[in-house]
Amino acid sequence: MIKHKFLPQPYKGILHKYWEWMPPAIQWMGKEKIITLFEGNTCLWRAKNFENYLRDLFPYFHSEVYWKLEGENRGSGSFKDRGMTAAITMAAARGKKVVICASTGNTAASAAVYAQAAGMRCLVVLPEGNVAPGKLTQSYRHGAKVIQIKGNFDKALEIVREVVLREKDKELVNSINPHRTEGQKTAAFEIVDELGEAPRYHFIPVGNGGNITAYWRGYKEYYIKGRSKRCPHMIGYQAVGAAPIVLGRAVENPKTIASAICIGNPAKWEEAKAARDESSGKIDMADDEEIMAAYALISELEPVSCEPSSAISVAGVIKEIKRIPRDIYIWDGCKIVCTLTGAAWKDPDAAKKVFVKDPIVIDASYDAVMDVIRSN
Ligand code: F0G
Repeated sequence: MIKHKFLPQPYKGILHKYWEWMPPAIQWMGKEKIITLFEGNTCLWRAKNFENYLRDLFPYFHSEVYWKLEGENRGSGSFKDRGMTAAITMAAARGKKVVICASTGNTAASAAVYAQAAGMRCLVVLPEGNVAPGKLTQSYRHGAKVIQIKGNFDKALEIVREVVLREKDKELVNSINPHRTEGQKTAAFEIVDELGEAPRYHFIPVGNGGNITAYWRGYKEYYIKGRSKRCPHMIGYQAVGAAPIVLGRAVENPKTIASAICIGNPAKWEEAKAARDESSGKIDMADDEEIMAAYALISELEPVSCEPSSAISVAGVIKEIKRIPRDIYIWDGCKIVCTLTGAAWKDPDAAKKVFVKDPIVIDASYDAVMDVIRSN
């Protein structure tokens, strides 16, 4: 067979792609042990219609806005897959047979598929009644043991932390797991690789604080090694009913329609604050109405979709533009990136409520269909 020197290598996921950026703790086990579902390589969407929308709000706006579509991750449809390939690979390489996590839904779904790929058992502990159905069924479908508790995410995390403290055969794959951060930082690499430079602002939803921490690490590493000339300001957004970092105190009963980020006591609180402070950024909050307005707007303006929690980063940009006086300079020709963290199909209930307004149901006849077509 003729070997073509310049044939592109098949894409094998983020660990293969960014192997030299992984710490020795991961590199020691060798590439052949990697468990990948071809995650990463997600689209960076230039949201031109959204830019025009912002210009209508504020005529001096002439920045570029990009949306990192993390719902495209091939493992389970969220950014968690980047971290999970690393966490599950390491757990498997160290001979663990069982992984466990607490989750608002996406971590669980991701853990379930990667554990299945690795032939491991997966236990997920979820807040009953507060997980979007798409995510819940993913965990079931891929064979995880799904344990729903009558309590919130924070309680679930407390419980699984205790489990792994007592039972050493089980590996915790929540974002406290350091390998998760290493995997998730690759999203920042992809952005800089594509733009040729780091954006000036990066907007991101904040729940447990893992993702903002990971992006910040990625941007810093690229900067330190000379791949980019600057780091962005990290602009995190929490939901008003679940904004412990903004308020500076844990929220006992967090409440928000954005179930993925309904977290009152983030595990990566200090790291998220460090990302905010080191980047001269900020962490602010948007209410449910603003989140859902952004959720609807995203798909109205662009052929793009995401789950409600992801929309808070776009809600954040709108808030910053509407705010008077404006306290961050996002309008003057810079590049802004928002992470849209999870896929729209994860939350069909939200989609139905927002988008399916007046369903047309008629008799099954040519005439009836034509009547409707002609009527408008
Ligand atoms: N967006 C989505 C869709 C999420 O699922 C999460 C977190 C976040 C944003 C926030 O990211 O926690 O790193 O600050 N979901 C976790 C879970 C908590 O269990 O799926 P974070």
